[in-house]
Amino acid sequence: MKLQDILKKQEDEGREKHVPGITVVECSSCRELMVTVQVGREVMHPSTQEHYIRLINLFGRTKEGKTVLITGFNLEGQYSLPRVKVSVKKEAYSELLAVTYCTLHGVWENSLDVKL
Ligand SMILES: [Fe+2]
Repeated sequence: MKLQDILKKQEDEGREKHVPGITVVECSSCRELMVTVQVGREVMHPSTQEHYIRLINLFGRTKEGKTVLITGFNLEGQYSLPRVKVSVKKEAYSELLAVTYCTLHGVWENSLDVKL
């Protein structure tokens, strides 16, 4: 089995609540970017005891082409919402990739070119 075998596709059923949305906001007074990952761009994914987003991992592609794990979150389902934020250095990454895991619907991903 390979990772691409288990990744859900952007066109798969349930994408509205599972594809992680990545947004980047530049701090006007510092050299940081605030990155937000929310699972479900159009409708936030549910968070119940049985059905929730367990993992949100954010990877970055550096300007040198190296892929690094920026951060990873292990969420608890009943009381957490599937939205996380992290600050990164401005100009550190050319691309961001979010990989998430739903306890019922599997592994989803999305990427964003960082152009500032
Ligand atoms: Fe789900």
